[in-house]
Amino acid sequence: RPERMGGMITGNHTPWTHFILVGFADHPELRRVLFVVFLFCYLFTLTGNFLLILLTVADAALHTPMYFFLRNLSFLEISYTSVTLPKILATLLSEKEDISFLGCATQMYFLLFLGGTECYLLAAMAYDRYVAICHPLRYPLLMNRRVYTGLAAASWLTNLLVLMGHVAAIFTLPFCGSKEINHFFCDLPPVVKLACGDTHGTEIAILLVALFFVLLPFALILASYMRIITTILGMPSAEGRQKTFSTCSAHLLGVTLFYGAACAMYLKPKASHLPHGDKVFALLYSVVTPMLNPLIYSLRNKEVKEALRRLTQKVCSGTQGF
Ligand SMILES: *[C@@H]1O[C@H](CO)[C@@H](O)[C@H](O)[C@H]1NC(C)=O
Repeated sequence: RPERMGGMITGNHTPWTHFILVGFADHPELRRVLFVVFLFCYLFTLTGNFLLILLTVADAALHTPMYFFLRNLSFLEISYTSVTLPKILATLLSEKEDISFLGCATQMYFLLFLGGTECYLLAAMAYDRYVAICHPLRYPLLMNRRVYTGLAAASWLTNLLVLMGHVAAIFTLPFCGSKEINHFFCDLPPVVKLACGDTHGTEIAILLVALFFVLLPFALILASYMRIITTILGMPSAEGRQKTFSTCSAHLLGVTLFYGAACAMYLKPKASHLPHGDKVFALLYSVVTPMLNPLIYSLRNKEVKEALRRLTQKVCSGTQGF
């Protein structure tokens, strides 16, 4: 099979036109099962997030900044899984999946762009919770429509341009030797691993970008939550404390899941040998987090449950009318 000869092309300077995604090639017996599992995850993610978007648009009680951000996050999760999962499914079906150089760059760009935007959206949501809990009286003033739409727009726009340069820099690195990407999709670490020559400069650039797109928003989230927790602990009644905490517990859980997985993937050097661990972490933030998002934000949340009940009632009485 010609693909298996990837390593022997070394030294021949024909420009590369594609990479090969290997995925779970060493466990062929798992591929069918994983295909079904991931297909289910994909459908579940699409359904859950579409439903959340629909609810936050349709129900007037959910027309608040928090649900505006949540709707934006759901839209982001749908885009994010649609960048990765179709390729994961194709890789599982065909053992080894070709991906063109440009396709790989485009996929990586959207992954980083959407991932970075998610970090900033989560930070904007933390700020929203901070204002709501620590400055409740000034909340309508501080979180007006201009502010929250502006925060969301800024989250999308800063990432749009910066990461384009970043991905362009990675794909102009010299690639030689193996074309096989030991992963399901074109994620940053496994592609950089294939570059040859001195990649120290690039690795430093990657770290700087990670600091800006992951650690800076994380620091903002941490600062917000430190203030939130101080405020909550200072409340006189236990009931008040619990009620206030319940307005931010879902967000806190979402943040922990997302950042836990993202940090494990990006904030470690190239040299660490954890190929299977890498894949598991990548799956965690690319497949599981988007899937859990609607669950985290709706199951624990009375407002969303009530809105869902109202919507089903409306739909049911609507169909009875026919
Ligand atoms: C997300 O936020 C941007 C910027 O404010 C806005 O233009 C866009 O419509 C929002 N998307 C959704 C699905 O609400």
